[in-house]
Amino acid sequence: MPPFDARHPELLDYRSEFPLLAASVYLNTCSLGARSERSRRRLESFLADWDGLGARAWYRRWLGELDGLRDDFGSIVGVPGDEISLAPNVSTALAVIASALDPIHRGDRASLDRLTAAGIAAGSEPRMRVVTTALDFPTIGHQWLARAPLGVELVVVPSADGLTVEPDALAEAIDERTALVALGQVFFTTGALNDTAALARICHERGALLLVDAYQATGIVPTDLVGGAIDIYVSGTLKWLFGGPGTAFMRVRPELREALIPTTTGWFSSARQFAFAIDELELAPDGRRYELGTPSVPSAAIARGGAELVREIGVERLGERTRDLGQLLIGLADDAGLEVRGVRDASRRGGIVPIAVADPKPVVDALADDGIIVDFRPGIVRCSPAFYNTEDEVRLLIDRLAAHVRPEDRAVS
Ligand SMILES: Cc1ncc(COP(=O)(O)O)c(C=O)c1O
Repeated sequence: MPPFDARHPELLDYRSEFPLLAASVYLNTCSLGARSERSRRRLESFLADWDGLGARAWYRRWLGELDGLRDDFGSIVGVPGDEISLAPNVSTALAVIASALDPIHRGDRASLDRLTAAGIAAGSEPRMRVVTTALDFPTIGHQWLARAPLGVELVVVPSADGLTVEPDALAEAIDERTALVALGQVFFTTGALNDTAALARICHERGALLLVDAYQATGIVPTDLVGGAIDIYVSGTLKWLFGGPGTAFMRVRPELREALIPTTTGWFSSARQFAFAIDELELAPDGRRYELGTPSVPSAAIARGGAELVREIGVERLGERTRDLGQLLIGLADDAGLEVRGVRDASRRGGIVPIAVADPKPVVDALADDGIIVDFRPGIVRCSPAFYNTEDEVRLLIDRLAAHVRPEDRAVS
């Protein structure tokens, strides 16, 4: 390939903040982003507050830290922090939303009318269906498969090319029986970026809601939720937010809050949480109405370290460098005779570059023996350089990959 320089080499100054980068050639951020020293410092101050303040830490520090985390996420996706709902993982956030959709599946008239009043012309008939795609992360489908005994039907739209699902294919599956369309902003195996604006238009024309699982996008795909039409946005900190396990978040469009009333709930969703009244529940007017119980404050501390970095660098720059390194990887893979089994066009990709390998596990193990960390899914080695990776690391990966993959294992149908 012709000489290629990934933009923003100045970001390599951040490498020293990530101990993992000294220990390995780490090209697996789409599974788990590396941990920064900021996260360690924040975790240490959480522990010091616990030791120094005991339960007083809740009021003096921790509730403020949780507000700070909501503000961090809000600023990354372009909304005020009070629109954010914290959750321990995406599955929990989805379960809360699924509970709010139950009356819509049943055709409860008052619930359908509230949706219509909020601008989603849901009509007056039951909407038993949830539409997703064959390329989505399993937990999205599982929420609604689990509701099959209640009559909820999950429609899984196949991918024609194994890489993407075009809006037209989804449009065919969305009709007056559809309550929700739920899919990834970036697909977790192929790295394809979906056109959520086009999908929102299709959903809303047909009286359905759009839920976007942005786990593989937040932090590298600039997102302005205020200007956009995504109804429900869920994401988490494991990957491109460099915030580790234990923290996820959701943003429901404020116009929909009165229409989406959760029945899976907890005392953190109460408008008067510290009144401790067992016989009344008025849901918080803001994003907290979708929260449950005591959050994992140590996870929040770790997550704030990653979020601080993302805010400092900016999603634009992070996305540009990530995609540039991906383009380098694609070009080098082509030169080496490896098959890229993902989207090639930088404007339609997130941060994942899948390389076709018939039996990927032994290859990933051999790379780990070389000190190179990537992962695998069926039929692919999944590579994901991030802003902190060097071009030389990407070159080394392709050199070693070409050495480990036998020619007959290089393409899968
Ligand atoms: C697209 C996507 N959604 C969701 C998840 C995780 O879901 P949860 O937070 O429920 O574990 C992941 C990865 O772990 C993912 O890649």
